[in-house]
Amino acid sequence: MSSPSAHETVAKTTQDTDSRLKWLQDHVQFVQAFAKNPLGIGAILPSSRALAAAITAHLQPGSGKVLELGSGTGAFTQYMLTRGFDPADLILVEQDAALAARLRRRFPQSTLLQIPAQTLHLHYDTTQRDIVATVCGLPLRNMNRSVHAQMLKATFDAMRPEGALYLFTYGATCPVSTRTLNALGLTSRLTAFVVKNLPPACVFCITRMTDTASSQCK
Ligand SMILES: C[S@@+](CC[C@H](N)C(=O)[O-])C[C@H]1O[C@@H](n2cnc3c(N)ncnc32)[C@H](O)[C@@H]1O
Repeated sequence: MSSPSAHETVAKTTQDTDSRLKWLQDHVQFVQAFAKNPLGIGAILPSSRALAAAITAHLQPGSGKVLELGSGTGAFTQYMLTRGFDPADLILVEQDAALAARLRRRFPQSTLLQIPAQTLHLHYDTTQRDIVATVCGLPLRNMNRSVHAQMLKATFDAMRPEGALYLFTYGATCPVSTRTLNALGLTSRLTAFVVKNLPPACVFCITRMTDTASSQCK
């Protein structure tokens, strides 16, 4: 096997430096956002690659539009792009102005909505029902029942009937109450526990109660 040329070595080093710089910028911006609004951000660090892998594990590139709620610095977005998702298929929702501005610069081909996720129906034509899946990074434990209900109604109205919403939480139970889920005809299931995240996190899948929909939560 031939050893890499000097040109290849320089290119690899530059690539490594670029991705470390991006990682550092993400972390600095996330910590700044957290310092300004700890409850609204709900985490001290962006999610790990392991959590990004677990929360997007059941999503297939090329299957249709994916909605991402609470994109932050784009930990899940970036991961989906490395898995081959078309950036034009991603709809990112982020209410923090500074984080939204950075997402817009970083992912110019994706749709960016700088809005509270629970008002999705006012900014997106949910009657198209063209979303196949939702990845949710919202700090649901810091939100009340009425916001959960508004957000879930708007999201499930926008999704295809078999659409699933994947969320993560630092607790062992689903952050959306059974009462709220039942009222909307939804059900939840734990799909993963991710140790390699700070703090470790559980992934839950929420779908409609029909058999076809709930079979999405493998
Ligand atoms: C826990 S962070 C997750 C960020 C990113 N998904 C990750 O995993 O690293 C939660 C994100 O949701 C955003 N957020 C909180 N409440 C929101 C709301 N009602 N609508 C839209 N975004 C919201 C915060 O600004 C923050 O960027």
